[in-house]
Amino acid sequence: MSEGLGRALVFGAGGGLGGALAARLRDQGYETTALTRRPAPDWPGPQLRFDLEDEAGLAAAAATLKDGAPIRRVIVATGLLHADGVAPERSNSALDAAQLLRLYAINAVGPALVAKHFLPLLPRSEPSVFAALSARVGSIGDNRLGGWHSYRASKAALNMLIRTMAIELNRTRPAAILVGLHPGTVDTGLSKPFQRGVPAGRLFSPDQSAERLLAVMDGLGPQDNGGVFAWDGTRIAE
Ligand SMILES: NC(=O)c1ccc[n+]([C@@H]2O[C@H](COP(=O)([O-])OP(=O)(O)OC[C@H]3O[C@@H](n4cnc5c(N)ncnc54)[C@H](OP(=O)(O)O)[C@@H]3O)[C@@H](O)[C@H]2O)c1
Repeated sequence: MSEGLGRALVFGAGGGLGGALAARLRDQGYETTALTRRPAPDWPGPQLRFDLEDEAGLAAAAATLKDGAPIRRVIVATGLLHADGVAPERSNSALDAAQLLRLYAINAVGPALVAKHFLPLLPRSEPSVFAALSARVGSIGDNRLGGWHSYRASKAALNMLIRTMAIELNRTRPAAILVGLHPGTVDTGLSKPFQRGVPAGRLFSPDQSAERLLAVMDGLGPQDNGGVFAWDGTRIAE
């Protein structure tokens, strides 16, 4: 392992993309901690439990991880699209208050609370990147198809929270960058029921997407703080 890259933290490292991102960061030489909801017996490095809906637990995890090599990469790779009793809406009449709130809790509130507790751990003057996985469908300007109301709205809210928190971050840690990332359509449990109709060559493996996302993070500059970027590096409309 090469020295000097510092630490990387991956929240949701038990998921499809989170697992691939954690493995690649580790291969690149970051001292990578996998943060997962359940124990990850196959992860060869340090690991820690967390739940997005337990803010006290997030604060405790931040206290545990406070000291050590500089934290240069933080990725929040958690997310929810479907589950028992949760399915993307196909019509306005399918709107359900409980589902809307559930997706807001996991896709917007949870990552924002991770940012609340972990942005203060980034180095004060050396470069670092904090990225939360968002989705292109969270773009208001890009929404021509409709549908998937709660997922879209929760990702749009996440994008706004990222933009808002990035403004303060720029004052307190000018070399740090906070962004949202769209991974493309990736073959994971989250996308499984919705992969029909994805054009050939456009369904990425988690590892392919992880490689692109880490390259995008490496290429970000101060002008990119607060934005949302796709796997190919292009900025996504608000
Ligand atoms: N796959 C795609 O095509 C695609 C496209 C656009 C955007 N994205 C975004 O990419 C991100 C990662 O998605 P993925 O495809 O890798 O999905 P995934 O395999 O389903 O992973 C999602 C992860 O989120 C974790 N999670 C959910 N609720 C949690 C909670 N309360 N506390 C802690 N962890 C929690 C899950 O933990 P458990 O394993 O414990 O359930 C799981 O590890 C998501 O934000 C998703 O919206 C994915």
